[in-house]
Amino acid sequence: MEAFGFHYSFWLTVGDNYMKLQLEEILAEGRALIAGADSESSLNDLRVQYLGKKGHLTAVMKTMAELSPAERPAFGKRVNEAKAALEELLDQRFREVRALELEKRLANERLDVTLPGRRLPQGTLHPITLVTEEVTRIFSTLGFGIVEGPEIENDYYNFEALNMPRNHPARDMQDTFYVSDDVVLRTHTSPVQIRTMLQHRPPLKVIAPGTVYRRDSDLTHSPMFHQVEGFLVDRQVTFGDLKGTLKTFLNRFFGRELGVRFRPSFFPFTEPSAEVDIACVICRGKGCRVCKDSGWLEILGCGMIDPEVFKAVGYDPAVVTGYAFGMGLERLCMLKNGINDLRLFFENDIRFLRQF
Ligand code: PHE
Repeated sequence: MEAFGFHYSFWLTVGDNYMKLQLEEILAEGRALIAGADSESSLNDLRVQYLGKKGHLTAVMKTMAELSPAERPAFGKRVNEAKAALEELLDQRFREVRALELEKRLANERLDVTLPGRRLPQGTLHPITLVTEEVTRIFSTLGFGIVEGPEIENDYYNFEALNMPRNHPARDMQDTFYVSDDVVLRTHTSPVQIRTMLQHRPPLKVIAPGTVYRRDSDLTHSPMFHQVEGFLVDRQVTFGDLKGTLKTFLNRFFGRELGVRFRPSFFPFTEPSAEVDIACVICRGKGCRVCKDSGWLEILGCGMIDPEVFKAVGYDPAVVTGYAFGMGLERLCMLKNGINDLRLFFENDIRFLRQF
């Protein structure tokens, strides 16, 4: 009876059994895959593969139409149970994987709070920048304004308007970098005098710090260096005004009363012209290697602005007078700090730069 019953039921339920078998297989395979998944993304893929709209279980559910109406509810229940089981497994594995991933991250990203911090290297201003600031500060207290001009300059401003016409021998004083026939890298800051006088009416009292260029390179010359120009234009300006201003500046810059002397010299754009020496800052005038035993150091060029320059900018030299001076900032910085090689300024050796 049993055997018969079995056979009977077998034949009667062959479709159901077959489908049940398939369902068990899907379930078993799903279980194994879920247990083996080790990332959230592969679990998401499995969820779509098994429980999604086009997933395995949906496909099984669709085959239910092949069953007799009597068999359908039981089978449907089985499928729903399988679905619930897989869902539960997926959720559980999700939690496990997330916990594992967190653990991994915690292990990898662990911070050792006892490690000493990394210091950010701190920069300093370049010595030339510092000297420029110091010089402009002193002249500001003396009532000078600050102006600037271009480093790539027309021949006209750099030479011509400064009373150095083409082929004038004075141009040989300055080895020039030519950009083209009419354009140069400015060889001094004096062209800023011209630009400023063309733009403004007197009285003028300004300084013009900046970078200048000359074809020259050795222990005391660099093809690029820095100058500060200064000039005052008004009525009845005298050489005494110039001397007083420069002496005041030099004493303040070097921080003490210095010996200062004015030596006659020549510049095409000043008349009379002078070069200014200070008593050697190393030997204080006694004579040493730096001052070549003369006791004096040349520090700047200056003079009364030449009438030809005033004519070039449309000022009336019968009414207007003025003085001008120009000095090298590297030289000022070297003398103030006892530096004997100009090239140190441009080598960017941090051990040198840190000392200022
Ligand atoms: N421009 C001159 C130079 O570079 C310096 C200077 C400036 C001289 C102003 C006199 C007046 O050598």
